[in-house]
Amino acid sequence: MTDFNLRVYDNTLDMLSNVDNPTPIVRLNRCIPFKHTKVYAKLEWYNPFGAVKDRVAANLIKDAEKRGHQLQNLVEPTSGNTGMGLAMISNARGYHFTATLSKAIPLEKRSALRLFGTNLIELQDDLCPMPGQPEGAMAKAAEMGRQPGWMSLNQYANPANPEAHYLTTGPEIWRQTEGKITHFVAGLGTCGTITGTGRFLKEKDPNIGIFGAHPTDGHDIPGVRSRKALALTSFFHPEQYNGVFEITDAEAYGMCKRLILEESIAAGPTSGMALAAVLKAVPDEPGNICVVMFPDNAFKYMSSFRKHLPELFGPAEPAAPAAGPFAEQLAAAAKFAENGPDVIGAAEALERMGQGAVLVDVRNPNEVKQQAVPGALNVPLGDLTQGPALDLPEDLDAPLITFCAKGKRSVYGMLLLKAQGYRNVKSVYGGMGAWVEAGLPTKAGE
Ligand SMILES: Cc1ncc(COP(=O)(O)O)c(C=O)c1O
Repeated sequence: MTDFNLRVYDNTLDMLSNVDNPTPIVRLNRCIPFKHTKVYAKLEWYNPFGAVKDRVAANLIKDAEKRGHQLQNLVEPTSGNTGMGLAMISNARGYHFTATLSKAIPLEKRSALRLFGTNLIELQDDLCPMPGQPEGAMAKAAEMGRQPGWMSLNQYANPANPEAHYLTTGPEIWRQTEGKITHFVAGLGTCGTITGTGRFLKEKDPNIGIFGAHPTDGHDIPGVRSRKALALTSFFHPEQYNGVFEITDAEAYGMCKRLILEESIAAGPTSGMALAAVLKAVPDEPGNICVVMFPDNAFKYMSSFRKHLPELFGPAEPAAPAAGPFAEQLAAAAKFAENGPDVIGAAEALERMGQGAVLVDVRNPNEVKQQAVPGALNVPLGDLTQGPALDLPEDLDAPLITFCAKGKRSVYGMLLLKAQGYRNVKSVYGGMGAWVEAGLPTKAGE
């Protein structure tokens, strides 16, 4: 018999959180500056499939089953977490699950979806699928969901999404704080969390402050939406919240670093984003009790962390070339490649980027920090010697262009990528020197 007190469960789905079996809240003690306000993080990765979205996936399916829908072939646009929940519940129910999602979703999340038995359709889209894109994840799922025998539950507009939080997250927090919560803060994606939890808490006590956090345009925080995208989101109702705060990538990832090093909490990027908003939204006053949602943990986002917190990963230096039995041959191969047809000029590289090629900057993060090409992907040469880099496209026909300071390391980068099976790789002649000389766009790196 399932016994929540003993944490003994009859089956996995009994582990989904609810008021009798809540996800934990843990007090943050060191990375907040408050003397009086108590801040508790709600650790949603204690759900059985690793994220806050397990609640939503379960309620979407439960609601559809109650309405008598046939769910044999489910399709859903997702930034990953709803997909993982739907995939695992589908496995339990014997349904087939297809996810439509952005190619830019971290490889770890796409791999986890595959591992969980999902059929993946990868498309050009935002990290969190954007409405109004005829070729995007939402349009594709809607189109497939209209086929006979198929169903799209559409978390972006299905009231069962906020309802999941009204029925579970809200009551859990109310009980865990003994009704003393004064502030609630959550990141904004579909806005199911803030809408459902906010509604429950406001009904209990209209004085509870409800705050949202969102990233900037062009952000790199998977699972949440910028203000522009939120404007197109059905459950985004800023007039019902007490405030909405924009958080930069640097603030969000910086907060994750503090959570790891100071609180020993391995939280994902949207948790750092929400906590950064707590510091802006909540005053330090006696009696204040804030609960902030931590949607998932860090392990699915190593490629994002490597990019934004390179200092935690140590220097990734290129393998020393020179000495060794084949050094001469390797140098000769690089020389041939340098003079071969795959080395292109800076202007041509920019033009190819406009057509979808990915510029792979193989310099070290410190060099990239000083000056970079907008839109380039930084994969230090040393990482390429370790095997396939996590954030490179999986498609071996994807057009790639390697780039460095002077055009030498990029040739080695090109050879390494070709050796890993990429069939369409070029290298930029003269690197950043030639790029700047040609007057092409650069930016001071982040
Ligand atoms: C990691 C992560 N954080 C935050 C959110 C935002 O939650 P909601 O969609 O309820 O606004 C999501 C949603 O996908 C998510 O995956």
